[in-house]
Amino acid sequence: MDVKQRILQLRDELHRYNYLYYVENAPVISDKEFDDKMHELMQLEATHPEMEDPNSPSQRVGSDISNEFVQIEHKYPMLSLANTYNRGDVQAFFNRVANGLNGQSFEICCELKFDGLSISITYEKGQLVRAVTRGDGVRGDDVTANVKTIRSIPLKLQGTYLPSFEIRGEILMPWTSFEFLNEERAKREEPLFANPRNAASGTLKSKNSAVVAQRKLDAYFYYLLGDNLPCNSHYDNIQEAGRWGFKISGAMRVVHTIDEIFGFIDYWDKERSHLPVATDGIVLKVNNLRQQEELGYTAKTPRWAIAYKFQAERACTRLNDVIYQVGRTGAVTPVAQMEPVLLAGTIVKRASLHNQDIMEQFDLHRGDMVYVEKAGEIIPQIMGVNKEARSVFLGEKIKFITSCPECGTPLVRYEGEAAFYCPNDATCPPQIKGKIEHFISRDAMNIESLGPETVDDYFQRGLIHDAADLYSLKVEDLAGSEGSKIKSAQKIIDGIEESKNIPFENSLYALGIRFVGKVVAKTIARHFKNIEALLDAHLEDFLCVDGVGEVIANSIISYFHEEKNLNLINRLRQAGVCFEIKDNAGPVSDKLKGKVIVISGVFEKHSREEYKTMIENYGGKNASAISSKTSFILAGSNMGPSKLEKAQQLGVSIISEDDFLMMIK
Ligand code: IVH
Repeated sequence: MDVKQRILQLRDELHRYNYLYYVENAPVISDKEFDDKMHELMQLEATHPEMEDPNSPSQRVGSDISNEFVQIEHKYPMLSLANTYNRGDVQAFFNRVANGLNGQSFEICCELKFDGLSISITYEKGQLVRAVTRGDGVRGDDVTANVKTIRSIPLKLQGTYLPSFEIRGEILMPWTSFEFLNEERAKREEPLFANPRNAASGTLKSKNSAVVAQRKLDAYFYYLLGDNLPCNSHYDNIQEAGRWGFKISGAMRVVHTIDEIFGFIDYWDKERSHLPVATDGIVLKVNNLRQQEELGYTAKTPRWAIAYKFQAERACTRLNDVIYQVGRTGAVTPVAQMEPVLLAGTIVKRASLHNQDIMEQFDLHRGDMVYVEKAGEIIPQIMGVNKEARSVFLGEKIKFITSCPECGTPLVRYEGEAAFYCPNDATCPPQIKGKIEHFISRDAMNIESLGPETVDDYFQRGLIHDAADLYSLKVEDLAGSEGSKIKSAQKIIDGIEESKNIPFENSLYALGIRFVGKVVAKTIARHFKNIEALLDAHLEDFLCVDGVGEVIANSIISYFHEEKNLNLINRLRQAGVCFEIKDNAGPVSDKLKGKVIVISGVFEKHSREEYKTMIENYGGKNASAISSKTSFILAGSNMGPSKLEKAQQLGVSIISEDDFLMMIK
């Protein structure tokens, strides 16, 4: 047998042994034999570089060449699931599905909810090509190199697989690996990971894939996406994926009744403690894909699925005090300050008390022993008081405040709302600062040169009272008389200036209109295209936008009814903030006319999005793949090796950021 054949044979064998060991849990050869074969393969590969294969089993060991994560847009956005914590909500979901399907019979697929981090992997022609994290759901980090080191994830598929598809699942650190890792870290006096999810996430974001390879991550897959899926039910598709080599959970069950669903929940609530990985609930999915489509989606979650979270872990500790936080909307949240206590793997000392009603219900007194739970959310919550633990010396009763702790204005409670608000949005400091902080945040205007401390400082110095004031700041205002600060002041002003190019969907989100999150802002911006159309819109106009209901619509309408908001928008527009979609605005120049440009790598001067917009504004066209039609590649640092190779093959020129900016000057 020649070397070439031997390499191919070893690769096939090792893929298979790997699958049997890590997915099927049924090894057929000893570790020593496996290592010997791997060793032989690696030696042959080293002497035959022409046989390189990015998905060779030898790639599983990773490399310590630092990898930067390039952001990649998901072909299908990665939605999350609506969470419920009680059976009533599960019943309500079941009824909603039944109603939504107008009496058709339906099946529910019950599954475990794995508590790790979600990943979306693309396979083409049976080969793993790309793995992307969830990120913000629209765009995530390309973590392919790290994911390839996870042994239970197939690099090459077996059987009769789809030619091209995406599969989603959860990356997890098994309890045993987690405990081992923390023991090792304790020995080296390194900080410990709080739970396997954090450990898995920290590991997957590691720049060094060799580290990832050592950390022994695992992955379960639960969602298949693509054209012409093999079967018309979710369950069958996942079983099919299992035959291609993916690790799927053995705990999936298709049921028909609500009692069977509760049976599944009860069973796994107990049994999950024996599982090798962390789970935090169960997921219910309408099984039939056509019925899934019929039920559709809200802006953030599918209507055909829901997550039921298991009862959280509970701890008991002493309540020292309650403080009150005022948010950017003026809502006042009571926060309990407690003796630190270990809860579900982390130390907690603060817990949300939600609102006055809940506080009253508990009849809280200072010094009470309270029950704290982490019910899936990151913020722990107080669930009750152990009244038997009260001694004769009962502490002072804790009463909800009646005026704002920050500005003294009497609090108000709006009809139908549980929260108290400080109505003084004009001068209450945390509200003003909170609104500005939201405005400059990454998903809004992304003014990186500013942060909460600078906002606080400028506010204290009387330089800013609202977001529009940012645009009239001058270097002299910021730097004062000291010359040394001129440079940093200029940087801040430049950052603010640059934010004028941020797209409409961001500036709309930046306004901080209630219920208008990132997703809704994007949908609305794309639908109405500019702020005038939005200002003129009536309730009916909003309701015909997918994902926008009455609550959102009314919130936007009432925002635009307020004189001070219109005023703010006007001043922002005068300052040059973009309040329209630029796509259809036509090119501002034709310097890039006829050019087809591919963007690759990481940039310093502008974001990828900004470059994309620039290309369009200058009459060029953005393309995602390099072909013979590509005019040039606008490349930042760390351009992907496959792109580089392709570019060289086709003789496409590569242009740096600086050259590009010169080109359009
Ligand atoms: S399905 C559109 N199934 O929970 C539906 N998700 O809040 C996509 N998760 O982001 C998700 N186990 O990270 C699905 N069996 C399961 C899951 C699961 C865990 C995670 C996943 C997702 C989050 C939803």
